[in-house]
Amino acid sequence: MLRLGSVELATRLLLAPIARYCDLAFRLTIRPLGGLGLAYTDLVNPRGLLRRTAKSMELVRTESGDQPLCVQLYGSEVRPMADAARWCQDHGAAIIDINMGCPAEKITCRAGGAALLRDIPAAVRLAEGVVRASRVPVTAKIRLGWNDGEIVAPSLAAALKEAGIAGIIVHGRTVEQQFAGPARLEEIGHVVTAAGPIPVIGNGGIGCPRDAADMIRQTGCAGVMIGRGALRDPWLFRDTHAFLVTGVVPEPPTMVDRIAFMNRHFDHLVHLKGERLACITFRQRASWYIGKLGDHSTFKHGVRTIVRADDYRRLVAKLMESVQCMTEENNHHGTARGRIDGLDKRSLRPDDGLAASRG
Ligand SMILES: Cc1cc2nc3c(=O)[nH]c(=O)nc-3n(C[C@H](O)[C@H](O)[C@H](O)COP(=O)(O)O)c2cc1C
Repeated sequence: MLRLGSVELATRLLLAPIARYCDLAFRLTIRPLGGLGLAYTDLVNPRGLLRRTAKSMELVRTESGDQPLCVQLYGSEVRPMADAARWCQDHGAAIIDINMGCPAEKITCRAGGAALLRDIPAAVRLAEGVVRASRVPVTAKIRLGWNDGEIVAPSLAAALKEAGIAGIIVHGRTVEQQFAGPARLEEIGHVVTAAGPIPVIGNGGIGCPRDAADMIRQTGCAGVMIGRGALRDPWLFRDTHAFLVTGVVPEPPTMVDRIAFMNRHFDHLVHLKGERLACITFRQRASWYIGKLGDHSTFKHGVRTIVRADDYRRLVAKLMESVQCMTEENNHHGTARGRIDGLDKRSLRPDDGLAASRG
């Protein structure tokens, strides 16, 4: 499958860090669907972690059903990064990642994240320090470069390999591109060549199993990392793994499966954050699922204003009633799984366009 240093993953599919979205509640909900080899936390400030701030502790929170987990750290100073990496490996991290691609100014202005793309010696020193401090494998998540005139990913990958990095995740866009346009497969291929033999994981714009298969075939990458595609369609890991192994995509989830997924996500949030915060958080999270729910405007509008768990449960009960009515109607008219599931009938088409419009 895919090996990152001493850690062998069950599949070659990774869940991307998406700050505020791919949190513990989401990870616990998506993992049981299958196909996911490794999940990443949001980027974590090592100084905050060493001070045990509430925010940092929340970001690195994990539990036994959340393995294997990679904790992503950002920064530019070796000492706090190395100390934080040691703490993480003792508290549930199977792998540590160094963020070398975040374009946010509050991170680059302190020479961390994507600023490291412009200072390869500093990136290498940081990688060496974290690798030396860790007994678990260390990966680096990079972008192609700052802009088209500064494509550094292949030379950076070659240098990180020498520094002892166990794998490189490359988001196939430059910092200036942000999240727009398709991932640049040819450039990811150059990183694969430069990093050999350490595994390179391609990332960017994967919205269906075919996208993942194309990225692997065209770049030679060892695996792929999926972010926004998995928020829209949590079954994407299951489907992509099946497609890569057998060439066949499983039957799409039914509306009832999708509602059950939402319920589990909501329940995890309540359990982890308490009712009030769970409702506030879910109002925003639900927006990723609503697109697949068809024409159920009462639920769609209602979920944006929930304040208590009961508000959510009442809305879901109504949604289930209306789904069951539709199912019975469809069965009555002899269309079996037809119209309801037809909402999601899986075609191996490219991304539906949302990839570029988010984030
Ligand atoms: C809202 C948002 C938050 C993100 N947070 C992080 C992060 O914390 N660390 C990181 O390395 N990348 C982060 N990313 C980038 C993603 O991990 C990923 O590289 C990018 O979204 C491209 O993959 P995708 O097209 O599959 O989403 C974030 C992206 C978005 C849209």
